[in-house]
Amino acid sequence: MLKEKKIAVIGGGKMGETLISRLLSTKTLQKDQLFVSDKNASRIAHFEEKYEVKGSTDNSDAARQADIILLAVKPQIAHKVIASIRESIHPEQLVISIMAGYTLKQLQEGLVLPLPVIRAMPNTPCEIGAGMTVLASGNETNGEHIKFAEELFGAVGKTLVLDEKYFDAVTALSASGPAYIYMVIEALAEGGVKCGLPRDVSTTLVAQACLGASRMVAETHHHPAILKDHVTTPAGCTIDGLLKLEEGGLRVTLIKAVDEAARRAKELGKE
Ligand SMILES: NC(=O)c1ccc[n+]([C@@H]2O[C@H](COP(=O)([O-])OP(=O)(O)OC[C@H]3O[C@@H](n4cnc5c(N)ncnc54)[C@H](OP(=O)(O)O)[C@@H]3O)[C@@H](O)[C@H]2O)c1
Repeated sequence: MLKEKKIAVIGGGKMGETLISRLLSTKTLQKDQLFVSDKNASRIAHFEEKYEVKGSTDNSDAARQADIILLAVKPQIAHKVIASIRESIHPEQLVISIMAGYTLKQLQEGLVLPLPVIRAMPNTPCEIGAGMTVLASGNETNGEHIKFAEELFGAVGKTLVLDEKYFDAVTALSASGPAYIYMVIEALAEGGVKCGLPRDVSTTLVAQACLGASRMVAETHHHPAILKDHVTTPAGCTIDGLLKLEEGGLRVTLIKAVDEAARRAKELGKE
């Protein structure tokens, strides 16, 4: 039961705060179950003031008192941060890393002590409970550890357990994905403005169209091409719009974007 666990979030940046904020607002965790560490004292003051969550600028201080250690720093400084907690960890703890590109093997080797580790890849819509987190587990991990991770990330959206070999693709699609969609929303809203709609109206219409389309895919389980065909009447206006998207290479561009981000995700853990 997560209710009996203490969780240390190492790195109080965007994702660290997104998770803490939602875990508290959904009452998945109480504030005295959480502890945060960050190299910036101002971030610690922010967490103490806004969420009444205790913190420290000393990572080992946070790690020592936790049952679950959540690593939420950039992968480029993973070695340094793992070294800072190495002396404070013990085998009963569970370490969960959300660092892009940083493998379970790297994590396990860095920690030295053979303890359970889980790699998690959440995304920013976790902030509103509409996140997606993919989980992969290390050798020392058992079913209970996975349940803890599912409960933790289940509070901020959907979870899915996958083999680690998919993680670069997952990072490129699920973690980076919201950024691609924001760009698409921004561009479509500009289209509405070009056609004379007030900007706020245009943005509302696009956001709702995206929400509706996403739910149609997720809930009807129809192939997106079938759903697209339902919108596209012969000699209607949608087909003209689609033609422009094909001319601009939208599909190829999106496929290449995911492929390129996956390549970069693979690099990140090696820097
Ligand atoms: N953002 C996303 O959409 C997303 C999605 C999935 C996974 N992730 C992963 O989540 C992790 C965190 O990403 P983020 O966007 O939250 O990054 P972020 O905003 O930069 O947060 C990291 C925090 O850790 C602090 N920090 C730096 N060095 C530290 C140290 N030695 N000890 C303790 N804290 C330290 C940073 O301070 P400074 O700012 O002063 O360096 C910052 O406050 C990354 O590994 C990323 O790959 C991010």
